Amino acid sequence: MAFTIAIDGPAAAGKGTISRAVAAHFGFAHLDTGLLYRAVGVQMLDGTDPIAAATALTPHDLERADLRGAAAGQAASKVATIPEVRAALLDYQRAFARRAGGAVLDGRDIGTVICPEAEAKLFVTASPEVRAHRRHAELRAAGSDMSYDDVLRDVLDRDARDRDRSTAPLKPAEDAVLIDTSTMDIAAAIAAAIAAIAARR
Ligand code: DC
Repeated sequence: MAFTIAIDGPAAAGKGTISRAVAAHFGFAHLDTGLLYRAVGVQMLDGTDPIAAATALTPHDLERADLRGAAAGQAASKVATIPEVRAALLDYQRAFARRAGGAVLDGRDIGTVICPEAEAKLFVTASPEVRAHRRHAELRAAGSDMSYDDVLRDVLDRDARDRDRSTAPLKPAEDAVLIDTSTMDIAAAIAAAIAAIAARR
């Protein structure tokens, strides 16, 4: 049976951690849709036309080691404003969403554009400062020496670009459950997400 859980929200709000935990809890497959845009973004940085990269994307492209860094995130947010790039990635995401056995997709436009018919929708957010602190700690643990101020600027930049673009902008679906993780630890955020989804099953 297909059951789609759409989890949207801004950069570094905790969507990834929550999505993986939710997928494990319900035994569903998980797709981090940001990785698709990151894979196109790094190819643009390499000099490939982003529309050509999106059209020819393969699972192998999602395994590059540099996809999680800040440069890939900024490049992803830029290629994500191109309607043809978004269109090229649509069918794959929709097919994943309706696979038998259930699926969790996290991104920016899952509940609004990719899967408006998703059985459960969450919008996970937190203040920009809290998100920047979390991302800063993650980057430091991974060996980066980026300053907190630079991380905050990166978060605000991406928020503005993701929210203000004309195609599939970042916004909560009307029927999404909002989870603000600013003052929650990760266990509380996961529990809130699971409770909201369980109410829809
Ligand atoms: O979730 P993330 O930080 O890995 O996403 C990277 C960028 O990709 C994000 O800034 C905007 C874009 N993106 C998007 O436009 N739509 C999605 N469904 C997922 C990501």
